Amino acid sequence: MKALVLSGGSGTRLRPFSYSMPKQLIPIANKPVLAHVLENIRAIGVTEIGVIVGDRVNQIQAVIGDGSALGVQVTYIQQDSPDGLAACVALARPFLGDDDFVMYLGDNMLPDGIEDIAAEFAAHRPSAQVVVHKAADPRSFGVAELDVDGRVERLVEKPSQPKSDLAVTGVYFFTSVVHEAVTAIEPSARGELEITDAIQWLVARGDEVKASVYDGYWKDTGRVEDVLECNRRLLDGLRTDILGEVDAASVLTGEVVVEAGARVIGSRIDGPAVIAAGSVIEDSHIGPHTSIGGDCVLTGADIGYSIVLDGATITEVRGLHASIIGRAASVGPSSIGEPRRRLFIGDHTRVEVAA
Ligand code: TTP
Repeated sequence: MKALVLSGGSGTRLRPFSYSMPKQLIPIANKPVLAHVLENIRAIGVTEIGVIVGDRVNQIQAVIGDGSALGVQVTYIQQDSPDGLAACVALARPFLGDDDFVMYLGDNMLPDGIEDIAAEFAAHRPSAQVVVHKAADPRSFGVAELDVDGRVERLVEKPSQPKSDLAVTGVYFFTSVVHEAVTAIEPSARGELEITDAIQWLVARGDEVKASVYDGYWKDTGRVEDVLECNRRLLDGLRTDILGEVDAASVLTGEVVVEAGARVIGSRIDGPAVIAAGSVIEDSHIGPHTSIGGDCVLTGADIGYSIVLDGATITEVRGLHASIIGRAASVGPSSIGEPRRRLFIGDHTRVEVAA
């Protein structure tokens, strides 16, 4: 069995971050989403992984390399334009051959693991097996409608009146018959070759299409709110590990990781929180569910429930909450005198300040 990870796409919902980095490299608990995904695939015993990449291939290769550091073997497959999930399957055909495979969206997090579901697929080998998750309000997802035997009858995209509570996650298992379906379907109204249409094609032909329920935590990290929520969930599993320097004037509560080479001076950190290597936290308060990337400098800062990416600086700004600060970004006091505020912000950036 092989794996196909989709790590191209345009990531419009994750602007401005996706302007300068592929969204699959956004760190969750200071590790890129894509690394979490590859580890999850390795955990089901699959190591031959094709990774679909768009124009950000260089950044992805710089972080993931050949996959050996994660115990997998990565083959990069370049996609020139984001033509849809089923288009990725067609593009990957030479890599996939006639093997069974798991297709995994590179921005989806299922941290509780898919071992049982993978075993179910291997035992029965239906033409397709979708992984579904019970959602209180599934209207913003694809929804699976099942018959009494648990076979998929229909997949409906974002139904206004869902007939089931089973949201389709970003993990799918296929045997090689899916390639017939992918070849047979036409692009949708939005111009993409849709995987739901390919699956629907198999259902219509009478193939066995199953759904397995994943009971664990699932998050599609497509929007900033999702990224923060997922970061919170992963940090809840953090265990204290202090390898960096923490001075006697600092107070740490809860589970806190201070990586080697990081320094905490005269500050309070209320975990769960992680401070990556090379960062300096001085006279600051870091609140729960916060990840600070590498080589950041926080001085007189107060920030909670947030993610600060590598190389960012926060100086004398308090009350930051539910925020994502981009790489090498700088947040500081007004240089033209309060109450004036000065913003140098990129396209599609969102700033929320007290009135
Ligand atoms: P989406 O999140 O549905 O699409 P997107 O990346 O274009 O995001 P947005 O809607 O915010 O513009 O894609 C799901 C995953 O599949 C994601 O990891 C990107 C990847 N993908 C590809 O690799 N190739 C494609 O052609 C498409 C559509 C998505």
